[in-house]
Parts: sequence; C-alpha cells; structure tokens
Amino acid sequence: MFEKETAELVRPKALPFSSDVLERILKQSQTGTPEVSAIDSLRAKNRPMLKTEFYLDEKIYSSELILFEERAAVAGFQDQVRSPGDHLVCRIRDRELIVLRDEKNALRAYYNSCIHRGTRLLSAKKEGLLKKIVCPYHSWTYALDGKLLTSDCKVPERGLRELPIRDFAGILFVGFQKNALDRLEPVFRELKNFEFDSYVPYEIKITEGNYNWKVGVEIFLESYHISTVHKSSVAAVIPKNASIFDPIGEHGRILIPNRSFENASPPTRKDLIITYFLFPSTLLVIFRDHFAMIHFQPISREKTVCTQAILIPQKSKTPRMTPHWDFNSEFFFRTISEDLALAEEIQFGLKREGFIFPSSWEPGIFHFHRSLEGEK
Ligand code: FES
Ligand SMILES: [Fe+2]
Repeated sequence: MFEKETAELVRPKALPFSSDVLERILKQSQTGTPEVSAIDSLRAKNRPMLKTEFYLDEKIYSSELILFEERAAVAGFQDQVRSPGDHLVCRIRDRELIVLRDEKNALRAYYNSCIHRGTRLLSAKKEGLLKKIVCPYHSWTYALDGKLLTSDCKVPERGLRELPIRDFAGILFVGFQKNALDRLEPVFRELKNFEFDSYVPYEIKITEGNYNWKVGVEIFLESYHISTVHKSSVAAVIPKNASIFDPIGEHGRILIPNRSFENASPPTRKDLIITYFLFPSTLLVIFRDHFAMIHFQPISREKTVCTQAILIPQKSKTPRMTPHWDFNSEFFFRTISEDLALAEEIQFGLKREGFIFPSSWEPGIFHFHRSLEGEK
C-alpha cells in the first residue's frame, strides 16, 4: 500500500564501514565464535567491576554521579521546540531545566531556577508560546534569552544560569559542564554518515524501573541475549551471536547483521542493525529507514528512568506512512519492554555477594567497564 513512498524515502544506503569491518561481520555471522580473545585478562579474578556490589553499593553509585555531570544528557527533542517561545521543562536526575527557542530562534537551556531565591520558574510546560519567564514568588522576570528584566535589585548575575545545548539528529543533548557535549564528537563524526537531518520522534516512552542504571545499559551492549530473551521477535531475523563490537574512545559501536547480510553483495543499511553507544548511558539504534534512542538516567542506586523514542524522517511523517511506523514502533517498544523487565530481574538477582562472569560474546560489557574506570 505504501510501498512506493517507502522505497522513495528510504532507499537502502551504502554502509559507511571498511571492507575489513564487513568481513569481520560476515565471519562472525558464519561461525558465531567470539572474536575477542583479550577478555580472559579482563575477567581476572577480583576485578572490582565484576563483583555484585558494583551494582548495589551506595559509594560506587555516588562516584558515578560525577561522571554523569561531565557527560551530556538528553533533554528532549528538536521537534518539541521548533519556533520562538516553544519550550519544555525536563528533569535530569535531581535537577530541572527549561529548554526553549528564544526570539531569535536560538536553542537555549536554563536551570529552572530563579536567580533571586532559587524558586522553580515553570512547574510544567505552559500552553501556548512563552513570551517571558515570570517567577511565581516575587515576579522577577526574564526574557527568553535569559536576561533579567527586573531592575529593582542589582545582582551580580545578568540572568538565568544557562547550559550548553545541541541538537543532533533531532535529539537535544545538554551538558552540565562546559565540555560535556564535546565528548560526543567522535560518535557524532561517524553518525554524520547517516544524514540524520530533520528527524522527529514518532513515539516517546518514559519508564521508571527498579534497577541500577548500569544494569539497564549493559543489556543493550550485548546481543548474546537476543536468541533467548527475544526469541519470538528479533531472533527470527538475526543469526545467533553474530555481532561485532568496536570501541570509539569511551563510546562504542555494535554491528548486528540481519540474516540477509550473508548473501547481500554488497550489504546495505537494510542488512545491518547499527548501534552507537554514547557513554555513559545513551544508545542510538539505526535501522533501515528510522532510528531509535534509549537513554538512561539514574534516580538512585536502584532506580532508573529510561527514555525510549522512535525517530523518523520528518518528511515521511505522513498519513500514508502511519501503518509502517506503527508497525515498527510497536515492534521496538515490545522488544524494549522485554529488556527492561529483565533489568529488574537482574537487579534482584544481584543481591548476593560474589562475582558475575560476562562471557566472550559480550565484549561491549568489558569495554563499558574500562570506560567507567577511565581507561580508553
Ligand atoms: S525567588 Fe524568584 S522572584 Fe523571588
Ligand atoms: Fe534486548
């Protein structure tokens, strides 16, 4: 029914990977044997990250929050703030931000906090376009560019405390520290090959679960579980243990071939599921004609919020394409709910002393641990 339109918009594109990488995938999908042999040393006895307390200990959790401060977080989507006055209020861990377009259409992110005495400025997204921000306490007023307009009191700061923000592929990344966004550059550089301009969310889900944030992330860093956890869905189209993992600094890339990969010459986007891991807690999964985002934010040691979204090209958000996107959306969210249900089971099971033993089919887990240790 929508075949023609689909074909036009989503021609299977060439893969931006070297022939070495493609050969490794082919070998992996034919043999299914682990590629990495260096893992034995990483699995060395007494490695602290392989102790169950790594996922349970309050001190370890507190130290990880520093790491989150230094990295970018997802604040929302470009599509939610398209024109001057558009705005959203988002929560990242224990802080709240206002994201908006100012009068000159520049994207801005501010702490949702008045500089006078700290009061929360906006309690939720207000209907309609924002013209000014007025504090509910003593009515200090700010322009959309953050400037303080109230002049009765002289204060040393000129206006709202601003944070760096950047749109990439329709996703808004913010940093609490100045260089946080720069850390994503190596992955963005690779992602540019996929021409992600003007992608918009088709569906967004935010769920809260009782698991440590690392438990959530790690499920998406290995494909070893696909043939067991997703046996009635994804497993049907993917050969067993066929993925390869490559580090990109502290980040990483997981390539999972579809069954079609083996006989495709040359393989294209339709033959591969491409996942980019943006350390510490974001995953972008690129499918043939759309992509998905999974982003974790810790609330506490054993509580995590997970934002999941399907993003599609803006021009293909048409009524004719709706059945196609509905199908993909339903499939994606069903798969993710299988993963997140598992996260709670893992967290519960970790409440014992001792070690865990990731296998050689899970190189992404070991790389994640190295990144957490600050190695690269
Ligand atoms: S705290 Fe905002 S005006 Fe007083
Ligand atoms: Fe999964």
